[in-house]
Amino acid sequence: MSYVRVLRLLLPAALLLLLLPVASAHADDDRVPPVRDRATRAACGSCHMAFQPGFLPARSWEAIMASLDNHFGARVALPEGEREAVTRYLVQNAGDRISGELASAFMARVHPRGTPRRLTENPEFIHEHRKTSWYEVGNSAIGSIVNCRACHRKAEKGRYDD
Ligand code: HEC
Ligand code: HEC
Repeated sequence: MSYVRVLRLLLPAALLLLLLPVASAHADDDRVPPVRDRATRAACGSCHMAFQPGFLPARSWEAIMASLDNHFGARVALPEGEREAVTRYLVQNAGDRISGELASAFMARVHPRGTPRRLTENPEFIHEHRKTSWYEVGNSAIGSIVNCRACHRKAEKGRYDD
């Protein structure tokens, strides 16, 4: 093989090696898998962002989906078939059913016998937002802390590291 040929082969590999650690560090740390299911995005993304199921354990999603008539003071109307399909998606992708650092960090702080309905009450969430001055305000100009997209531009992709 000629010198040039070897270089041509090695250069892309070297570039890849340089880029890989950056990409994988991001993927693991600050990301939960985005909501890929169209039905879930439609049913749960109109009033607020469709929260990633990785932030709550399976039993929480079951409880939330079993009480849509009284959903944090709102009423979520869903045909039964759709309710079942969305529940299945949320449960299968719940924080205690998937791997990943961010989901694990949240799951580690869920009480073993607790069934939280809010990810914003998870101690990990509270800790991460301790310096966020809007936290106590509730309803400020940007909306409440529940409005993830107000501060995290890539929230819907499951990225919260900006
Ligand atoms: C009709 C409007 C509406 C729809 C549709 C809706 N929600 Fe909500 N949801 C709310 C309101 C209102 C709150 C409370 C927001 C607040 O505390 O500021 C809320 C809060 C939540 C929270 C708690 C957020 C936190 O504080 O951690 C979860 C989880 C949640 N919704 C899941 C769902 C799921 C799953 C669906 C789809 C089945 C859904 N929502 C559809 C209105 C809605
Ligand atoms: C008022 C602005 C604001 C809102 C609203 C908000 N966040 Fe944050 N969030 C922050 C700030 C600031 C940080 C700290 C960033 C840092 O330390 O790099 C943070 C950190 C995080 C982290 C930790 C990221 C990491 O790198 O470990 C997660 C996860 C997160 N937010 C999720 C959410 C979710 C989910 C919502 C909606 C339910 C939300 N945030 C709403 C401002 C906000």
